[in-house]
Amino acid sequence: MPEASVWNAERAREIIAEHIGLEGPMLPILHALQEEFGHISTAAVPLVADALNLTRAEVHGVMTFYHDFRGYGPVSAADVASLFEAGFVTGGAHALRIGKPEDHPFLAPQTRLTFARCGIVDPLSLADYAAHGGWRGLTQAIAIGPQAIVAEVTKSGLRGRGGAGFPTGIKWKTVADTTADRKYVVCNADEGDSGTFADRMIMEGDPFALIEGMTICGIGVGATKGYVYCRSEYPHAGKTFSEALRIAREGGFLGPNIQGSGHAFELELRMGAGAYVCGEETSLLESLEGKRGIVRAKPPLPAHKGLFARPTVINNVLSLVAVPTVLDRGADFYAGFGFGRSRGTMPIQIAGNVRYGGL
Ligand SMILES: Cc1cc2nc3c(=O)[nH]c(=O)nc-3n(C[C@H](O)[C@H](O)[C@H](O)COP(=O)(O)O)c2cc1C
Repeated sequence: MPEASVWNAERAREIIAEHIGLEGPMLPILHALQEEFGHISTAAVPLVADALNLTRAEVHGVMTFYHDFRGYGPVSAADVASLFEAGFVTGGAHALRIGKPEDHPFLAPQTRLTFARCGIVDPLSLADYAAHGGWRGLTQAIAIGPQAIVAEVTKSGLRGRGGAGFPTGIKWKTVADTTADRKYVVCNADEGDSGTFADRMIMEGDPFALIEGMTICGIGVGATKGYVYCRSEYPHAGKTFSEALRIAREGGFLGPNIQGSGHAFELELRMGAGAYVCGEETSLLESLEGKRGIVRAKPPLPAHKGLFARPTVINNVLSLVAVPTVLDRGADFYAGFGFGRSRGTMPIQIAGNVRYGGL
């Protein structure tokens, strides 16, 4: 990140004058001010307003609309008053000011596929999701059909992100090739390992991505019903995800005829009840069936005889959320990341006494 200079009204006026001749100079001016001073001071508002013959409210409105012109953290309740005093809404100077998230030394070298939309989109806006690449994987999946979906996921080299790293394509093909009157897709969101919070962040920050991934899976393997089994200690994730389900259903992304494709897929959220072992896939299935979460003996595999004794794909949240990217950008794109037989990107959670905790 380049070294920022201290706020200087004279220099700000010069910067504004350098861009004033452009058509639509507002964003170039705001970028240039942020570049120079590391943030956009509230003192810049009247200068920009006068130069562009706008009201202060108009300039303020533009500045506060964009993510790039703010960014603070980590914030606790005790910081809120001082953030308001610093004028954080317009990027005022504060010890917690980060600046543009993508310039942050922890975030800049990362390639985010799974979490690309988190913190950027309104998690419950279908329009926002679509504007940021949402549903493109589903559209492609509908276009190429079940066999090609499974082939694409296999080719991507995606392995389960729930721990065992089993190849996702092989699991899906087993379910696709098994004949049954009903099949299921189950998402393991019983994230209970210490220090893990990635599944939760997806369900709260980008829930439509999980709905999209599970729907693609349903079409791919011929399942018409899915369940998300969520850890009971995640009430916020449960609430956001329930709302996302309702909105997706209303938008025709779930139900008897998804986006007019003729494919049916319905999805339900079920909350666990405080048993760590229910993260193990067969005890999770027992729990979904309303029983004690006791591990089943294998075989049979869940892919052959899973939920309610029907062929069942059971995957972790992160495995399923990777799928829309695989379908949208292609198996080769996804497989272009990673090492050896582990392809794609892997979200890592860092917690504890570290300089940069987080995801
Ligand atoms: C004790 C135990 C706890 C587990 N907890 C989880 C969990 O919280 N989330 C998860 O996805 N997988 C968990 N697993 C792994 C699952 O049994 C299963 O491998 C996984 O859900 C498969 O999904 P994947 O292929 O997408 O990784 C656990 C396994 C064991 C033995």
